[in-house]
Amino acid sequence: MMWGTIATWPFSLQAVEKAAAVLQKNGTAMDAAEQGIHLVETDLSIESVGRGGWLNADGKLELDAAMMNGDTLEIGAVAGVQHYEHPVSIARAVMEHTRHNMIIGKGAESFACSMGIKAADDTYMIPENIRKIWQQNKENPIGHDTIGIISVDQNGTVVSATSTSGANGKIPGRVGDSPLVGSGFYADSQIGGAAATGLGEDIMRTCCSFRCVQLMASGMTPQQAVETVVRTAHEAILAHGRKPDCIALVCMNKHGQFGAAANHTGFSYAVCTENHPAQIIGVSPLAGCCIDCFVPEINQTVKGEDGI
Ligand code: GLY
Repeated sequence: MMWGTIATWPFSLQAVEKAAAVLQKNGTAMDAAEQGIHLVETDLSIESVGRGGWLNADGKLELDAAMMNGDTLEIGAVAGVQHYEHPVSIARAVMEHTRHNMIIGKGAESFACSMGIKAADDTYMIPENIRKIWQQNKENPIGHDTIGIISVDQNGTVVSATSTSGANGKIPGRVGDSPLVGSGFYADSQIGGAAATGLGEDIMRTCCSFRCVQLMASGMTPQQAVETVVRTAHEAILAHGRKPDCIALVCMNKHGQFGAAANHTGFSYAVCTENHPAQIIGVSPLAGCCIDCFVPEINQTVKGEDGI
């Protein structure tokens, strides 16, 4: 079977390269997605995921993450987790070692401890410069981005996984789309997977990831499916008297074909498949539904435009 992996934002190139190395050696999609996300969770230069991520209104780092196994439709998710560098691994443990789908806050932290997952203290998780930036910007916080990754392994297993610190300056306890199945992520190995980034509140309103996988099941190509989802989500929000915020989606079907779409400028993603080298690809906003919104710092060179 064709292997492949795709993830949101240029900062995910390192995750895609790692996941691709696992998949190439016939590793599992689960290990590929988890090990890829680990790099982004640890990287202090990425301001919206894991260690060094956006702080909440009380100056605390609360992390959300999830993982879905498309073979079994098993889900593991955590929300509002503090003091753990790798929330995606707690999410995986929820999926593999409990009868539940989601555990939040202190319950998730106790569960992680019981599973032998190593905790980290605040000085490691929140470096001083991050706290200073939070102090400077706390009256006007912006930003809300996620690593969402889909991996398809050589056995045909499709996994979708996410990790984020959620919205910058969020009310403590706020949960976004990233740990919510169907909104931030979805995977079905008979079809494919999808993952979202953007303002969680709008992605939740429109259940973007589940809809994207269903549209692929109905016969759309991955690119047709993501474009349809982002466009209809944007239009539905407008039609209900609301101003849409950022919505972007990536998806990959079980054959390793992929797509991406956004309702804003500045979105790009990283992808690698058996016959497509690891690359960052820029996405033009959908015609007729383009808004201005905050996008994270892009350090890597964007190498293509809609290069699918
Ligand atoms: N999409 C990330 C969040 O809104 O929490």
